[in-house]
Amino acid sequence: MPLVTSKEMFEKAYHGGYAIGAFNVNNMEIIQGITEAAADLKAPLILQVSKGARAYANRTYLKKLVEAAVIETGLPIVLHLDHGDSFETCRSCIEDGFTSVMIDASSKPFAENIAITRQVVEYAHDHGVVVEAELGTLAGIEDEVMVSAEASSYTRPEEVEEFVAKTGCDSLAIAIGTSHGAYKFKPGTKPQLRFDVLEEVSRRLPGFPIVLHGSSSVPQEFVEKINRYGGSMPGAIGVPEDQLRRAAALSVCKINIDSDLRLAMTATIRQYFAEHPADFDPRQYLKPARAAIKEMVAHKIVDVLGCDGKAF
Ligand code: G3H
Ligand code: 13P
Ligand code: ZN
Repeated sequence: MPLVTSKEMFEKAYHGGYAIGAFNVNNMEIIQGITEAAADLKAPLILQVSKGARAYANRTYLKKLVEAAVIETGLPIVLHLDHGDSFETCRSCIEDGFTSVMIDASSKPFAENIAITRQVVEYAHDHGVVVEAELGTLAGIEDEVMVSAEASSYTRPEEVEEFVAKTGCDSLAIAIGTSHGAYKFKPGTKPQLRFDVLEEVSRRLPGFPIVLHGSSSVPQEFVEKINRYGGSMPGAIGVPEDQLRRAAALSVCKINIDSDLRLAMTATIRQYFAEHPADFDPRQYLKPARAAIKEMVAHKIVDVLGCDGKAF
């Protein structure tokens, strides 16, 4: 099966009350860990590449590695541009064979966000590619851009119908309290997503797929391991998994996870070096790191997203 778009995936997820995991990829071991878990569980999959990932690994390598995963697993896989910052970045990914792109003009004024998104949609749809757009601003770090908690803002439900009608986008990322990175909520406060905003957006856009960025749950077992083996991540707190599960049962069809992959990999490698200080063969420490990613992704698929067994 070649790379697919997310159109049919989202239709099934919306009506089935589950979500698809969109995992960020940066190298071979990450791609293998994610896709091995999805293959074992027959789960549909979105592999997403940020501008930074493309700069790190170069545009050809990641595309070819994802193609290898399609051949190895036979799964329906979407290759998606995460946080496209301009028409040019989106066009370049479409030329490279991505089947889905995000244009993130959420930091721009409403009318400008509509205009840029509309331009990307026209080009993408002419090439059989789907487009995710964003309304509302998440806190945290995306590529080089840091959005402070004060500058972030929840999506305004009264804007979503006009935005979707005028842009023609295929899915919409909204801000309901998630944020990028490992420090999502103030220590001592109760993490709580704004389900009232999600429900009002869904009521105004019946049948329309919603996307949640910044949805890592920052498992404390990884944070503790990092802290135990020489790291320092006090106060790292993620989105509670039961709230993600609730969102997946509603209109949320795509849930973005990157930080949890980084934590799983880094915690495992730190532990490996602490226990094997004389080792220097990258295969020895990347093998358990890949296995940790596989285990974590399997848990997300079964216990958070609910998309196991939904690939075919
Ligand atoms: O939302 C951002 C993703 O975690 C990608 O991060 O831009 O460092 O690759 P990155
Ligand atoms: P996390 O930092 O919560 O993993 O979010 C990733 C993301 O939204 C990628 O677009
Ligand atoms: Zn994001």
